[in-house]
Amino acid sequence: MSNIKRIGVLTSGGDAPGMNSAIRAVVHEAAEKGLSVFGFSRGFNGLIDNEGIELDLKAVGGLLQRGGTMLLSARSDEFKTPEGRKTARQSLEKRKVDALVVIGGDGSFKGAQLLEEEGVAVAGVPATIDNDIYGTDMAIGVDTALNTIVEVVDKIKDTASSLERTFVIETMGRDSGYLALMSAIATGAEAAIIPEVPYDLEKIARRLYDRYQRGATNSIIIVAEGASSAYEISRKLAKIASIETKITVLGHLQRGGSPSAFDRLLGSRLGTAAVEALLRGESGVMVGLVKRGVETTPLAEVFRHQKTLDKRSIELAEILSK
Ligand code: F6P
Repeated sequence: MSNIKRIGVLTSGGDAPGMNSAIRAVVHEAAEKGLSVFGFSRGFNGLIDNEGIELDLKAVGGLLQRGGTMLLSARSDEFKTPEGRKTARQSLEKRKVDALVVIGGDGSFKGAQLLEEEGVAVAGVPATIDNDIYGTDMAIGVDTALNTIVEVVDKIKDTASSLERTFVIETMGRDSGYLALMSAIATGAEAAIIPEVPYDLEKIARRLYDRYQRGATNSIIIVAEGASSAYEISRKLAKIASIETKITVLGHLQRGGSPSAFDRLLGSRLGTAAVEALLRGESGVMVGLVKRGVETTPLAEVFRHQKTLDKRSIELAEILSK
């Protein structure tokens, strides 16, 4: 039997579509087990300021379809200080919260881990469009962001082919090339420039020439923000190969929109799993999707490993881009 009667939940860091599905799932699972839930606003800042709302089944009605996060999010510098966390722990006591679910990326989990070391039961739910968290095959939000990128690149292709142009499109992902690589495969782009693989612009330029010789009407190069920028690649292509390009920086639109079915399901599965893990007495863990099942990984393990891109996908992008 667990002593947990009341659960706190917060979303932290960059928002990701499907965070709301995870919040809703935490509340539903808690209700099923007879627990109450308090949602802290603006990530760890809400813990420090003791701000938030009671979350019952009514409060999370109609949430599945909504992008962003109903609890608001933030990156908190104050929480990195021992004083900030002391105030946060006092808020948990005042609210009579026995355990906390943190929905976010690895920066947020570092905060969660510190709280756990200071005696708070915590479970992490991975949510970031970057897909850079070890211990989960997919983080919440990745699938929706990828679908958004594919939709936009398809649209750019229409105009690129009408005017026989080359486009350089920049995706988000921080230090991870996942979104750029997968969207390049899914849109048939001519190159994916990602931080995980050194790039050779002369080789890419030759590929573009070969394509135009074969009668192609457009070319698309997708560059991950962690590898370079669309401006830089465009400038270099003009310099080394006199190739004129147009630029599109996708920016924050990649984080918006109604979550895909995949992200709604993932948020639902991981949100419930986080509550289950806490009730089993697990703490300092992250719940993640591993080979289609849900598994828990200690946060220390999550930090110790770097999530790598699947080699076969890198080869696939190379083969399919020729
Ligand atoms: O981590 C998610 C992410 O969207 C990254 O892909 C990006 O580099 C960063 O957040 C942007 O952060 P901000 O919204 O603070 O500009």
